[in-house]
Formats: sequence, structure tokens, C-alpha cells
Amino acid sequence: MPSYVERKAIRKVPGKVIGAVPLPKPKLIEGFGKRTLVGEICARKEYKSVLLVTDETIFGLKLHEKILHSLDEHGIKYTIFHNISSEPTIDIVDEGRKIAIECKADVVVALGGGSVLDSCKIIASGAKHPHLPIKHYLHKFAIAEGGSLPMINIPTTAGTGAECTVGAVVKNEDGTKNSTVVIGLDIVSVILDSELLIGAPQEITKWCAIDALSHGMEGLLADVDSDSEDIHKSRECVRLIMENLPKLLNDPKNIEARQATLLAAHYGGNAINTQLAGYVHAFAHSIGALYHIPHGKAIAWSLIPIIEAQEYMCYNKMACLAKYCHIADKNDTAPKAADKLVGALKALLDMCGLEKGCELIDTNDYDKMTEMIDADSINYSPSRTLSDSEIHMLLDQIRRGF
Ligand SMILES: [Fe+2]
Repeated sequence: MPSYVERKAIRKVPGKVIGAVPLPKPKLIEGFGKRTLVGEICARKEYKSVLLVTDETIFGLKLHEKILHSLDEHGIKYTIFHNISSEPTIDIVDEGRKIAIECKADVVVALGGGSVLDSCKIIASGAKHPHLPIKHYLHKFAIAEGGSLPMINIPTTAGTGAECTVGAVVKNEDGTKNSTVVIGLDIVSVILDSELLIGAPQEITKWCAIDALSHGMEGLLADVDSDSEDIHKSRECVRLIMENLPKLLNDPKNIEARQATLLAAHYGGNAINTQLAGYVHAFAHSIGALYHIPHGKAIAWSLIPIIEAQEYMCYNKMACLAKYCHIADKNDTAPKAADKLVGALKALLDMCGLEKGCELIDTNDYDKMTEMIDADSINYSPSRTLSDSEIHMLLDQIRRGF
């Protein structure tokens, strides 16, 4: 386990490394019902055999059927693989890869949330390189020269941004989660179709949206050299969620608001790719793993304490964001504007009905959790390195509530 001094010394390394990873540049298609364009896209690209990958729930809801009709209209053959579970194992992913090879797929259409999208990154890359063992995709970086099969990614949640991220999380043989950066993904199109989200349960809508917001927020606060486009996208991610999540809490069928949260999540994915996440995610991962709390909910509990712990290092970044989101006045001092941003985030979490404090956290687990958080934190470039005693204090704050 790296010591505090070691963690502090290597703090900026992940930000430098991620800057060297080639990123996919998909064409973005947005709009209600736009997944019906899949057939046209495939015909234009002259794809002959499609592997459509989804999960049992989406398959059961028949959300894939409009895609099949569009492929039928263009005379393109397809195979369906709908075995992806919420926490896919490498064996299931390997099954998908074998089917892609058998049906001679020349494109993979991924329809689903983060689990489906992440699985498809390995299926699309693995099918292009059948000689590579599936375990190749359990390394920290999976480089496959020559890229992947082309992918058309269609998210069914507005949260992870996994439709454009280069990371893939799957379970390895012993059941532990494994995160891999897949190098050389060929994501040709991303379709943000709000029709897929209209019937989503409110619990999914709100915590996925808070997860998306945290990606933009953590990206902005990371100590990474970001260009102006990435900063703009991360600010838009936060603004779009802050403006549109309250609308969805009142009216889940608001199509424009659904579409806006999908775009926010997509920009959040860009933040993960270019700026990385940070301590909010490190805390949420340990809380989620130990107490089986959904990722977005664990993020919601962790967000305010961790942001406040970094606030004094990030006054200017937070003030710029607050002014961009019209939460602060242009004449506010940086600390005042940053405080207004934290206040607005607290109000949003209140609106979502977040319970005060995560009571499931057991104080006896603090040491174990601190180890997990320390280990996870070296994947990010946060604005400052937290000591173990600070992590204990923050866990206590998350447990008691803010
Ligand atoms: Fe996340």
C-alpha cells in the first residue's frame, strides 16, 4: 500500500498518463427515438452483420426492437446477445466475443447501461483479435493493435457516460471487479435517445444524474492540464444536471430534460476520459463495495464532504463553475461563489430526498475502507492528497450526514 508521502509524490502521474491514451471520436446523434437510425448508419458504412448486445431487462422491455426493424428495412442481418448482467463476469463477456466471431460481426451495437457498454468494449476489441486470450482484457491497460470492431453505442441510463469512456469494468474469475483501459476502441456513433429513459424509475434517474454531475465536477477539480473544450464540457455536464434534474423530479416524462441529462452524462464520460474522477469516487467505491449500495447513491452521500474538503484548494475553479451555472453573481468573491455552489449542490441532494447520513457505514470498517480509498486514489490526480486521519474524519461525516 503506497504511503501518504508516496501517494502525494505520484499524485499528478495518472493525469499525465490518461493524456497519452488515444480517445474514440464518435459521431454524436441526439433525439427522441433516434435509435431507429442504426439501420441507416450500418447501410451507409456497408456493415453486413450486426451483433446487438443488451441485457435481459432491456430485452424483456423490447427496447431493442426498433433497432431490429431499422436493420430489417436495410436488409442487414443481425444476431442478438442479451445475457449481460448488472455485474458482468469475464466469462459472459467471452461468450459474447465468441458469438461475435461466429456470426462474423463487422459491427457491435451496444444497447444498455454501463455494464452492457463496458462489456461491449471487450467484445468488440476481443472479436477483432481472436488470438488474444480473454485474460488480456484483465490487465490495467489492454492494448489491441489494429483497434476494435466498430461500435454503435446507445446508453439507456443518463449516468456513467460509458458510451464514450475507454474504461471497462467486469468481474474476473474470483468475483472481484477489474477495471481495464481498452486502447484503440473504434466507437463510430453514439446515439442519445431519450425515448429509452422515459419509463426509468425515479431512483435510477436521480442517482444516475448525481453520478453524472460528479464526473463533471471531479473532472473540473482534478489537478490535470485540461484544454478549454474539456473544461467547457465538464461545466456543461454540471449545469445541465443542476437545471434539468429538478425538472425530471417533477415531471419524469419531460423529454427535453431527459435529453439534456443524457448529454450531461455524455460530457461526464468525456471528463472521466480526459480529467479522471477523484476522491468522491474513491469513497463511493469503498462504500458501494462493502455495503452493496448503488454507485450513484454512494456518490450522493460522498459528494458534499469530499468537495468541501478540497474547497480551499479549488476556490477559483469552483467559483468559475458557480458563475457559469448562474449560481453565483459575477461580483462574488471566489470563496463566496464556491460556498454558493456547495449550497446549490446540497439543495439538489435535498430535492432528491437523500437521507441524512449513510447509517450502514460501520465505524469498525474505517481502517479497511481507508486502505481501499488509499489504493483507489492513486488512479486519479486529485487537487490534494488526503491523509488517513482525514479519510477517517470524512467517513465519519458521510456516516453522520452533512
Ligand atoms: Fe461514477
